[in-house]
Amino acid sequence: MTVSVTVNGKLFEDESESVSLLALLRDRWGLLGTKNACEEGECGSCTVRLDDVLVNACLVLATQADGREVTTVEGMATDAGLHPVQQAFVDAGAVQCGFCTSGMVLAADDLLRRVPCPTAAEVRAEMAGNLCRCTGYRHIVDAVCLAAERTTAEQV
Ligand code: FES
Ligand code: FES
Repeated sequence: MTVSVTVNGKLFEDESESVSLLALLRDRWGLLGTKNACEEGECGSCTVRLDDVLVNACLVLATQADGREVTTVEGMATDAGLHPVQQAFVDAGAVQCGFCTSGMVLAADDLLRRVPCPTAAEVRAEMAGNLCRCTGYRHIVDAVCLAAERTTAEQV
């Protein structure tokens, strides 16, 4: 069976139906922005958006993604520049080694779509599935709040 997935607006195909979506993205299609750490759904490093739902790509079979749309961190920025969440992570100093960052950015974007102005406590609770080994989380929470402030200010 050929698995066909639209990733960041571009169609990708592969015969590897028995692997995970994470393996398709990284090993078959060279999209290395999505990170692989635990492969057990515990760390959030492999977070991507599948249609409109955030998933851990390591827990999604290739066949489950067939015919669907995936957004990875490579699809966040545009020709106009970084995505507002990415820019906020830079400006708030929320990146150290960067290993968790792509998953964090996808998770933060998903949170802000659902809750445009979250409190710091809500950010911590909603993003509890994304682990960071470096930052102590304070700057990550600051970054999400900064992105929320900027997005809200633009809409006033
Ligand atoms: S690599 Fe998928 S959740 Fe850790
Ligand atoms: S910045 Fe290193 S794991 Fe989060």
